[in-house]
Amino acid sequence: MNTQPQNKPATILVTGGSGYIGSHTIVSLIEAGHSVVSIDNLSKSTGRLNDGIAQITGHDVDFHEIDASDEDALNALFSQYSFDAVIHFAAYKAIDESTKKPLDYYDNNLGSLTTLCRVMRAHDVSQLIFSSSATVYGDQNTACVETMDIQPAMSPYGWTKIFCEQILRDLSASDPDFWNITLLRYFNPVGNHPSGLIGEDSPDVPANLVPYITKVAIGELESLTVFGDSYDTVDGTCVRDYIHVTDLAEGHIAALTQADPGIHTYNLSSGRGTTVLQAIKGFESATGQTVTYTIGHKRDGDTPYSCGSAKKAEQELGWKAQRTFTEAMRDQWKWQQNQ
Ligand code: WQD
Repeated sequence: MNTQPQNKPATILVTGGSGYIGSHTIVSLIEAGHSVVSIDNLSKSTGRLNDGIAQITGHDVDFHEIDASDEDALNALFSQYSFDAVIHFAAYKAIDESTKKPLDYYDNNLGSLTTLCRVMRAHDVSQLIFSSSATVYGDQNTACVETMDIQPAMSPYGWTKIFCEQILRDLSASDPDFWNITLLRYFNPVGNHPSGLIGEDSPDVPANLVPYITKVAIGELESLTVFGDSYDTVDGTCVRDYIHVTDLAEGHIAALTQADPGIHTYNLSSGRGTTVLQAIKGFESATGQTVTYTIGHKRDGDTPYSCGSAKKAEQELGWKAQRTFTEAMRDQWKWQQNQ
């Protein structure tokens, strides 16, 4: 396995750079010595994380308010810079919203990817790292590995990830000597940069567990509803693989070293399974805070168990999650206190 071009400083385009994972990845890219250009249409974020990135790294972000579906704007950008690789985060990701606005999700998530790929090809930029999701594995009762068959999605959001992966497999097969595509399947990103200066920037009530926990702990929300405690797990609540977002970001830096043409798929996971009740207790012991919760009904579409093996990323990219769930809870609490 060759690992070379992006071992040396490179110029990387990050789409969706004003989001939670995008902003953390930009910090890690800058700390790894890369030059970064960030675009975002600010439809789901305010852009304020750019200030946090600058404070953490000492570098102002080269940010452009551009929609990744805007072919003319992307062409102009690719004419202005000589990108060595692209990391594509820009997509809608709220499962519940996707069931209410499926056309918006298909237009945006698929349209931005195909537009970006057209512009990359036109400007001879061959390395793409794509933000995929463990959601493509569907319901599994064992740790997911990359060779598992993709399962039918439970939401339009999930289908967009499945369709985008297929688009990229077809694109790679159409021009195998050109494209170098990496699909990164995230499990459950949590935590924040330890500075507490960047994090989830959405004004909406969080759908995800840990941001909801921190808002209950700080008193912004009254109580957490645990979506069911009658699953076939150690305490009846769902098991997830929570990975510190900075570990996830560093997984993208490692993926840049993948130099072989073709299409490569890797899980980015911690390999640890944590139930909802264990997550609540873990947050409380990490922060000394109390989380008020009640047991409610199961949430449609929830799978009882979703954990991943990251052995392939460790063997081929030399990447392994380093941070603990406790660190992630402490870091996320610090971000919440700064809001
Ligand atoms: C985790 C557990 C809930 C909120 C989703 C996407 C996935 C990825 C991560 C993008 C579940 C329970 C939650 C609450 C609860 N996103 N929960 N009360 O659903 O595993 O994954 O986000 O890639 O694709 O599917 O994450 O944080 O919503 O839920 O009991 O108020 O917490 O039932 O068991 P999920 P989550």
